[in-house]
Amino acid sequence: MAQVFDRSSNALARASLVLSGLIVIALGVALNSLQRSPWVTRQGQRPDQPVPFSHKHHVEGLGLQCQYCHTSVEKSSYAGIPPTKTCMNCHSQIWTNANLLEPVRQSWATGASLQWIKVHDLPDFVYFNHEIHVNKGIGCASCHGRVDEMPLMYMQNSLQMEWCLNCHRNPAVNLRPTAEIYNMAWTGPSSDKPVWCSATGAVGPTAQQVACVETDPAASNPEMAQMSQPAELSKSAALDKAQTVADVSPAVVMPANYVKFTSQDELGHYLMKQYHIRTANELSSCEVCHR
Ligand code: HEC
Ligand code: HEC
Ligand code: HEC
Ligand code: HEC
Ligand code: HEC
Repeated sequence: MAQVFDRSSNALARASLVLSGLIVIALGVALNSLQRSPWVTRQGQRPDQPVPFSHKHHVEGLGLQCQYCHTSVEKSSYAGIPPTKTCMNCHSQIWTNANLLEPVRQSWATGASLQWIKVHDLPDFVYFNHEIHVNKGIGCASCHGRVDEMPLMYMQNSLQMEWCLNCHRNPAVNLRPTAEIYNMAWTGPSSDKPVWCSATGAVGPTAQQVACVETDPAASNPEMAQMSQPAELSKSAALDKAQTVADVSPAVVMPANYVKFTSQDELGHYLMKQYHIRTANELSSCEVCHR
């Protein structure tokens, strides 16, 4: 049989196969990093809003709580953006002539809502719910960053699937007492800065509430000293006891049953139990977020 291709063309074919393979990989890498780039995710961008509203001024400066404006964050899937009326509670009296606030006055006069541009916007095929996160001890700052320090709002995290899964696979590192949800500066306990935590007995919509104090409650209240855990009790026994107390009758206000924590790891695992957090596998299964 006549040889149609000689040896050199064989090598050429092989080389071009390898080359096109490399090009495909390079394209994949490029597309992938493009998909994760802030340009696509809009991470860190500050869109032009109708009014340059500053969280820094209103939260850090004036001491307003998040719930004052985002009223539904604990009880619905949406946090909610405040209506013009909320702004006018103050701005009918303060800064009444400021040009910056002209769109607010217009909106109030005409009844047409301010058209805020969404900073965070998940695709419609993803299910997300504020209520469960907030009631299971994930603070606003864990997902939105230091909002109290933002003159203009921007998205701190990508909100990509990988980011959600990263926490769902190991929520313990982010769990905090429900009483600290709005605390922008909260940090986990350490051996220099231990905390004493207790199930408060109050039950939120989805979880056993937990509050912590930064001084030893036994030292400041001798009566409580008798009820609280003896220091030498092993950690797991302490956890089991706290769990049982919480389980028996969560609706009744229990005598404070404090457990001491010196690391986020210990606190996180205690809270996993208190909040009845599902396993990493259950929380990363596709149906959780794609229904
Ligand atoms: C005085 C009212 C007010 C208070 C208090 C307030 N916010 Fe806001 N927030 C707004 C308004 C108005 C917007 C829409 C404009 C913007 O994005 O800056 C907004 C937007 C946001 C957004 C982005 C929404 C989007 O478009 O994706 C987040 C996140 C947010 N606030 C979190 C917080 C947190 C956390 C706190 C408490 C630390 C807080 N806010 C306190 C009024 C408020
Ligand atoms: C509790 C009262 C209060 C509420 C509610 C409030 N503001 Fe303000 N706002 C102030 C005060 C006080 C200042 C002046 C702050 C300063 O200069 O430190 C201010 C300043 C501003 C400014 C000027 C720029 C700046 O941040 O200093 C804008 C714009 C503004 N507010 C928009 C809004 C909007 C929009 C809302 C509703 C979502 C709102 N405010 C709700 C009290 C309020
Ligand atoms: C587990 C992460 C997480 C936590 C915790 C969280 N958020 Fe959000 N937040 C999101 C995501 C994701 C979106 C975008 C939702 C969408 O596009 O459907 C969002 C959107 C928002 C919005 C705009 C849209 C809306 O829901 O009305 C506001 C305002 C907001 N968050 C405020 C808060 C406040 C205040 C807290 C704390 C009480 C908080 N968030 C806690 C992840 C979180
Ligand atoms: C910082 C940690 C953290 C991040 C980030 C986070 N989650 Fe969660 N998520 C949790 C915890 C904790 C729970 C409660 C688990 C439980 O109750 O077993 C939860 C529960 C859920 C649930 C279950 C709700 C239900 O009713 O069963 C959904 C859906 C969900 N998250 C979606 C998301 C999506 C989508 C994102 C990303 C945009 C996200 N989460 C980011 C910690 C996080
Ligand atoms: C904790 C919530 C969560 C879980 C669990 C989850 N996803 Fe997603 N998924 C998301 C979010 C958020 C997005 C949107 C990402 C974006 O906007 O870029 C997404 C996007 C996607 C997309 C669209 C393509 C893309 O990457 O943007 C596919 C396909 C997908 N998910 C498949 C899956 C499969 C398969 C599973 C189960 C193995 C799964 N997801 C589990 C949150 C989740």
